Amino acid sequence: MEKEFLEEPTELEDTDILNEIREENIVILTKNLFKDYEIGNFIVKAVNDVNLKIKERDFIVIKGPSGAGKTTLLNLIGGLDSPNKGTIFSSGVKITNLQEESLSLFRLVNTGFVFQNYNLISTLTAEENVMFPMNLAGMTLKEQREKAVSLLKKIGLGDRREHLPFQLSAGEQQRVAIARALANDPPIILADEPTANLDKNTSMFIRDLFDDMKKDGKTIIIATHDDFLIKLANRVINFEDGKIISEE
Ligand SMILES: Nc1ncnc2c1ncn2[C@@H]1O[C@H](COP(=O)(O)OP(=O)(O)OP(=O)(O)O)[C@@H](O)[C@H]1O
Ligand SMILES: [Mg+2]
Repeated sequence: MEKEFLEEPTELEDTDILNEIREENIVILTKNLFKDYEIGNFIVKAVNDVNLKIKERDFIVIKGPSGAGKTTLLNLIGGLDSPNKGTIFSSGVKITNLQEESLSLFRLVNTGFVFQNYNLISTLTAEENVMFPMNLAGMTLKEQREKAVSLLKKIGLGDRREHLPFQLSAGEQQRVAIARALANDPPIILADEPTANLDKNTSMFIRDLFDDMKKDGKTIIIATHDDFLIKLANRVINFEDGKIISEE
């Protein structure tokens, strides 16, 4: 690989990218993104030179075989993980330049995450789980509670506020996780196989929640093989061996 290819973009390039972001309403832009994992003598190129532009209100589905790098890509885009090389702009901010403390604050208000295994905090009630990101973002307790109650009502779980995660069904846990993702009203929602462990009816319910988010103007990126979710997408990206191989 040529050295020039691997160099970080210069400040001048950043200005050009930011202009493009503004002019084309781009919410997420990745430039020459690489993520390797080294285990023993093996190097896995989980994300291998990904260039992606996602516009405001895009509903993107990322499809691809197991091990393709979908989760890794989502984690990079969301600032949960950092790349070996390359740049990521999210909502006009070059997140690959941010220190962990500013990055975590930025994540809180910019991006909502929905995971395959819900990742609720097991010792907190449904309501407290939804309040958690608002608490971190500095909202008052009263505001947190009011917003949590309204979000739980919106997802049809107003009567499960006091339940702990283990007292909720899988689908209910995922709905709480979605309410938590929406807590700080982030413009971007990232979801990693959100319906993979759910039955058809529950998946349809989750699909409807994503449809509502779409109508609310969110930019949504989902790694999934779920046909119900794929139908909502305006772009379907096929991902394999760390690369975008095609788009439908
Ligand atoms: N923390 C890690 N350490 C080492 N290797 C990893 C790590 N995370 C992922 N990998 C490797 O990187 C590759 C991409 O993994 P990733 O989880 O992103 O794939 P995926 O497309 O999400 O797969 P799936 O559909 O099974 O969820 C895999 O080969 C995996 O083994
Ligand atoms: Mg995955």
